Amino acid sequence: MTLRLNINIDHVATVRQARRAPEPSVVAAAMMCEQAGADGITIHLRADRRHIQDADLYALRQTVTTYLNVEMAATDEMMLIALDARPDAVTLVAESPNEVTTEGGLDVRANLEQLRVSISRLREGGATASIFIDPDAAQVGAAHEAGAQQVEFCTAAYADATLGANAMHADGQRRAAAELHRLREAATLAAQYGLKVAAGHGLTYRNVAAVAAIEEITEFNIGHNIVARALFVGLDGAVREMRERIIEAGRQH
Ligand code: PXP
Repeated sequence: MTLRLNINIDHVATVRQARRAPEPSVVAAAMMCEQAGADGITIHLRADRRHIQDADLYALRQTVTTYLNVEMAATDEMMLIALDARPDAVTLVAESPNEVTTEGGLDVRANLEQLRVSISRLREGGATASIFIDPDAAQVGAAHEAGAQQVEFCTAAYADATLGANAMHADGQRRAAAELHRLREAATLAAQYGLKVAAGHGLTYRNVAAVAAIEEITEFNIGHNIVARALFVGLDGAVREMRERIIEAGRQH
């Protein structure tokens, strides 16, 4: 199975917005990611527009030639924008106003009817509909009921267990193993429902291999760690390195 890597370029826009300057250009970044072998570009259009702006979405729609995935909350405002801009995929995420980053998966079960309507509109508009959820059997079942074609599993809990000192301690290692087990079980279930399976959030050069070794997970959305590494080695090298790690781990399938 070919593993796909979409680069989340939100934090290129974070640097630009820090000064409300024209640079760095997210279009230039996307083109460089594609030239380095990225399978797609992911952006998160947040309600507060803290990084990606509406104009970025439209500019990227004109220039991205691989695959454009937009993460967004299923609000009326975002639905109108997505249906107008027509990205290849929309990933519905939970969003709360003061969070530093997405804090976890959507509760699909609790919002089933609203999500069913949003997903049906997105699919009619030609987008692949994905939902960002925790690796949990009830949420996988609800995503299927809501009509999603893909689920993206939130890897934040796994990633946290592998961060810094946690990786050195038995407790961190136990938590990482337990989270990988959850991801594996949920991925197997999602594949049984016929859902495509993606993963993302907090993945790094150090912790990605164990997730990429899970056969059913075929797409990765990774941003912060790649953009952070790009400061030292350049975006081209940072993308290539992450891609190599994912492909190498996938050879174990
Ligand atoms: N997937 C989703 C749904 C996200 O919300 C994010 C963060 O915007 C990512 C993937 C990428 O996470 P990170 O920047 O930690 O790699």
